[in-house]
Amino acid sequence: MCGIIGYMGNKQAMPVLLNGLARLEYRGYDSAGIALLEDGEIKVFKQAGRLANLQERLSGNGFSSTTGIGHTRWATHGRPTDYNAHPHSDCGGRFVVVHNGIIENYLELKKWLISEGHIFKSETDTEVLPHMMEHFYKGDLIPAVSMMIEKIRGSYAMVVLSTLEPDNLISVRKDSPLVIGLGDEENFFASDVPAFLHYTRNVHYLDDGEISLIASNRVEIFNEMGQGVSKPVHMINWEAEQAEKGGYDHFMLKEIHEQPASLKKTLSGRISEDGCRVDLQELSLDVDEIKKIKKIFITACGTAYHAGLVGKYAIESLARIPVEIDIASEFRYRNLVVEPDSLVVVISQSGETADSLAALRDSKKRGMPVIAITNVVGSSIAREADHVLYTWAGPEIAVASTKAYTAQLMSLYLLALYLANVRETIPEEESRQIILELLSLSSKAQLILDKKETILDIGLGYENCKSIFFIGRGLDYAVACEGSLKLKEISYIHAEAYAAGELKHGTLALIEKDVPVVTVATQPFLFEKTFSNIKEVKAREADVFALAMEGIGEVQKEASQVFYIPETHPLLTPVLSVIPLQLLAYYVSLARGCDVDKPRNLAKSVTVE
Ligand code: M6R
Repeated sequence: MCGIIGYMGNKQAMPVLLNGLARLEYRGYDSAGIALLEDGEIKVFKQAGRLANLQERLSGNGFSSTTGIGHTRWATHGRPTDYNAHPHSDCGGRFVVVHNGIIENYLELKKWLISEGHIFKSETDTEVLPHMMEHFYKGDLIPAVSMMIEKIRGSYAMVVLSTLEPDNLISVRKDSPLVIGLGDEENFFASDVPAFLHYTRNVHYLDDGEISLIASNRVEIFNEMGQGVSKPVHMINWEAEQAEKGGYDHFMLKEIHEQPASLKKTLSGRISEDGCRVDLQELSLDVDEIKKIKKIFITACGTAYHAGLVGKYAIESLARIPVEIDIASEFRYRNLVVEPDSLVVVISQSGETADSLAALRDSKKRGMPVIAITNVVGSSIAREADHVLYTWAGPEIAVASTKAYTAQLMSLYLLALYLANVRETIPEEESRQIILELLSLSSKAQLILDKKETILDIGLGYENCKSIFFIGRGLDYAVACEGSLKLKEISYIHAEAYAAGELKHGTLALIEKDVPVVTVATQPFLFEKTFSNIKEVKAREADVFALAMEGIGEVQKEASQVFYIPETHPLLTPVLSVIPLQLLAYYVSLARGCDVDKPRNLAKSVTVE
């Protein structure tokens, strides 16, 4: 999704903007641009394709400007072309805007602006913004921005640069992320903190409707009524290097290897001293409230949804609360039967996914309290939820989600156990045993990573496959779903997950020689059943790679390749069994020469519906 940076300070703006945009590349984009205020004029440089193209074009240019804005665009309205790239200007080149989001009523606004004599140069919704600034400006940028946002419908985070007020940059946001970085004689706007983490760790998070102004030595924030507001300064404790590749070839590989650490971090401080109970006081949920819960709805998108599938199993089996799970893009369009004492859990790594945010808002409208499980402090979902459980996975840059998924699983186990502890649905000894297993997952994950070469060999065999199936039962099916998504999104091989027992109801017709079947078979009580499915697909000449748990069955008798995960509690196997599948996807993608970290057509954070 689009990335924004704005800079005003004492440094040359161009390198600051280009570095900032490079740190936002993970959001996904198809064009990039910057605007610099130089000698009273705004100079705009923008171009389709990689940021590197723009950097190359600008290299050697010694602009002295210390003020500018930049943007990486992920096309929604209008193709990814040079002229559709941001920043966009008004007719006279006095107002330049970068924008993330969608202006829903832009066609009607464009018609009106054209009738007023404005000339448009792009197909974008965004271009109405600088023209509206031109229309409304009467000597002060802030009232002009207020008048503009009264006219627009949709979602936006935008930054305005104007030759008429060269000492200020103005921003406004609604439903799209924007933060202010507070430096020494310099200030920043950005879609996300990695954009300015090299320069400052102090940030203001902005709320919907707030208009802010940065100058090199001051920041002012106004609410929707135009009143000045004072906001707390948050200190970011990520290391800048954390947001970089740290020696790995790709962010995805680095993030796969960070899982032992992020699992440990997500667990830390959340277990009672005697090791028998989960303590999630941070949720500030009332004990009586927890005891009364009749139903839980889980909703999320993509990988986070797959984590939710595991969460449903965990909550139902430990806390004995019925759970319904929906893909967030479906949730608000079905006629939900909402009973009193229902609770909603929204899972989102970024905390900005449009459908998940809409599901959250819809739930609140229906009177249901919402727990957010998210990785991004200060994200929209974190701020709007009633209760937040953070996954402490650190910034996830690769589009393919890995460490966020296992951290989400850990958080869901913690939530399930916490509810079970409060509702006394499991004996204390069982709780203690599961907690012991949770504590050992980090080192068991490391054992799997130490054997990654085995997966590399298997991956090389899949390089030229046209289609791969992933099967499993129960929790193993949930992991199969995630394994198949991972493979398809970064290798572009058709991959499909099937509940193993469903195969014979149709899909078996597609199983033949040269169609490998990855079988997840870690669940002891389902092992015999899944083993029969392995025989079933082998009889159709499919090659089988099985993921099993040490000590359970003899899957190697049928499967041509087997990877054993260390023994753990059956409920917790997804945290371990997904890791070989993440590695498999990575190695296949690499072997096929795909862009591992930035797969085609995909964005890290999907902030439009
Ligand atoms: O930031 P979110 O967790 O809300 O994102 C949800 C999905 O867009 C995300 O998990 C997506 O499916 C990943 N690319 C999968 O690797």
